[in-house]
Amino acid sequence: QAREQAERLRDEIRRHNYRYYVLDDPEIPDSEYDLLIEALKDLEAAHPDLATPDSPTQRVGAEPRPDFAQVRHRLPMISLDNAMSDVELAEFHRRIATGLGLSRESAAGVPYTAEPKLDGLAVSIRYEDGSLVQAATRGDGTTGEDITQNVRTIPSVPLRLLGSDWPAVLEVRGEVYMTHLGFERLNAEAAARGDKTFANPRNAAAGSLRQLDPRITATRPLAFCCYGWGELSLDPGESQLAMLKRIADWRVPVSRELKRVLGLAGCQGYFQDLGARRDGLGYDIDGVVFKLDRISDQVALGATAHHPRWAIARKFPAQEALTTVESVEFQVGRTGAVTPVARLKPVHVGGVTVSNATLHNMDEVERKDVRIGDTVYVRRAGDVIPEIVRVLPERRPADARPVALPAQCPVCGSDVIRPAGEAVARCSGGLYCPAQRKEEIRHFASRKAMDIEGLGEKLIDQLVDLGLLREPADIYRLTQEQLAGLERMGEKSAANLIEARERSKETSFARFIYALGIREVGEATAAALAARFDGIESLMAAREPDFVRTRGLRGVGPKAAQSVLAWLEEHRDARPEGTDPADLGEWLASLRIPGVSRPAALALGQAFRAVDELRGAEPADLYANTTSLVEGVGPVVAAHIAGFFAQAHNREAIARLIESGIRWPAHSAAAPSVRPLAGKTFVITGTLSRPRDAIKAQLESLGAKVTGSVSKNTHYLLAGEEAGSKLETARTLGVPVIGELELAALISGAPTGS
Ligand code: IVH
Repeated sequence: QAREQAERLRDEIRRHNYRYYVLDDPEIPDSEYDLLIEALKDLEAAHPDLATPDSPTQRVGAEPRPDFAQVRHRLPMISLDNAMSDVELAEFHRRIATGLGLSRESAAGVPYTAEPKLDGLAVSIRYEDGSLVQAATRGDGTTGEDITQNVRTIPSVPLRLLGSDWPAVLEVRGEVYMTHLGFERLNAEAAARGDKTFANPRNAAAGSLRQLDPRITATRPLAFCCYGWGELSLDPGESQLAMLKRIADWRVPVSRELKRVLGLAGCQGYFQDLGARRDGLGYDIDGVVFKLDRISDQVALGATAHHPRWAIARKFPAQEALTTVESVEFQVGRTGAVTPVARLKPVHVGGVTVSNATLHNMDEVERKDVRIGDTVYVRRAGDVIPEIVRVLPERRPADARPVALPAQCPVCGSDVIRPAGEAVARCSGGLYCPAQRKEEIRHFASRKAMDIEGLGEKLIDQLVDLGLLREPADIYRLTQEQLAGLERMGEKSAANLIEARERSKETSFARFIYALGIREVGEATAAALAARFDGIESLMAAREPDFVRTRGLRGVGPKAAQSVLAWLEEHRDARPEGTDPADLGEWLASLRIPGVSRPAALALGQAFRAVDELRGAEPADLYANTTSLVEGVGPVVAAHIAGFFAQAHNREAIARLIESGIRWPAHSAAAPSVRPLAGKTFVITGTLSRPRDAIKAQLESLGAKVTGSVSKNTHYLLAGEEAGSKLETARTLGVPVIGELELAALISGAPTGS
């Protein structure tokens, strides 16, 4: 009974595997599939005699091996002849017709099978009595390597054939490959771990298949597609297509694109069609393979030592070629992104001449280490802009020059800003830069910004192209006459637009800030800025430290800070010999506290005069960290905002906007000029409702000083739950202790009660 149950479970799991990995059409959710696997595993564990090597639970089991054993192919694995052009394909067809003694007319009707030429690795997989017993690489065609344990891990390869009408011996031959999705996932995972990535799916498939440890292969998204057979204890019948269909019925995957076509015209049509769909297939192919479909025709023509006379690979033009980088120029996109573009020595790739390749951004330039003068591989995929795949460092000339990001926008001359850690550099010329003009104006007029109804994309394009709009302020100079003269614009709509424009002048500060189109400043950030600054002048005058405060010591990370404090806490009596403050850093370094580098120790030593001062410090005062003073504004956004307002022409463009009559209700935000806590010193302790950093930033923005330890100079101790020694010290010294409610009262100016 257990045996029957195990077989039933295995059949069901195999069917789901096939639907999932081959048909791409799962019938049940993953969770249910997992339950089936668990049930089978339990059953096999309870009855070890039932576990068979072709059970779906047995895909990974083998130990890593020192090397691959050699396998002699019982029938050689020969290669294919290539046709690089229509002419060569026609010659192949003519040879076939001559060889088979066909008339012109019957040659036109000779059946071929047609299928993609997959770009992977050829393997031969041997089944005996329906079970997978061996798999081998092609090797030199006569002898390959035993990769049985690795091939067993490929989910679409059946460990056991379906049904019972298979021959006692069946060798299927086909290609192991990786889909684009699998390849991207694998590379993303490798990149996240900081590992090397693969250059293309073929390399990834090859590297994954030739792993001595099958457990590694099992984690790689490999797939298999059968296109033929080797040893076969069965008459294959009359037709290549029919035999492949039988193989597919045993659940060995064959190509979905496999078809029968007639004569040269049929081959050419298939080649055209697949070529057009190539980029959407989801896997790399480098051509199409045509084979005479009648097995009797194949036998009649035979093979040379290298390839069958009855088959040919019609290859697509190469997608990759070698050339040199002559220069790198920078283009400015409509959103201000400054993109490096390589100017190449013209080269033929995939049927066209390529002389430019995008480098995407400076990260990419640095990662690929592209320099001017380098020899590079360029790749062209479909309509996609050609790109540089990799550099050949061995061909780098001595005078190769590194690529430098320009300091100024090549279009408008504004500063180019690339915040630390960002891949993309941007022109800060926003309102002024012609490259960004249409996009800026469109954003300015949009509903959530100035909300100028009727001023849409098409109209903006027209107005910019006519030279009537160069900057947002020009909108307020447009006349009804100018508008009425435009394409698809009547008197009425011109009048409506002018009216909408006039209405837009009455706005809010937040909308106006948002309308400026500062990089990374969305509605929420614009509102936060509007609440924080009392007007456009103070916002324009603000610099990075007005948005984010950077604290702590350069070169000291949070781990090092924690480790030092923990060590000092544990060794309360430890202190350096002598009293020279210069010794503190050296002493800290000599302690060799795990996680604390020598530079970090020295930086700490420099910042503190005595070890007890360091003992009393907050970790956040030690390590480099930033706190934002405006909600949603971190270091990157702060760099964009400050960079934007630092440009004189942006400030001038804003002044022209204000002159045109834009206004909003004045308000007094918690402006930097309002500093109710000026001159007061605070210490914060215990657990509070907000992060300590945020409270500290708020207190500081109101003029207070926040220190790490309580002394008689402390004005207030802000104490939360579980306050400890600081609370005691404050009580001893008579320092007022307040809670969050009292702090709120203090800020709003009410008496505190304590
Ligand atoms: S048939 C006897 N069909 O291309 C003919 N090969 O350049 C043997 N390949 O070694 C090959 N897709 O690795 C055939 N649909 C396909 C193929 C294919 C890819 C590879 C295979 C072969 C190489 C020959």
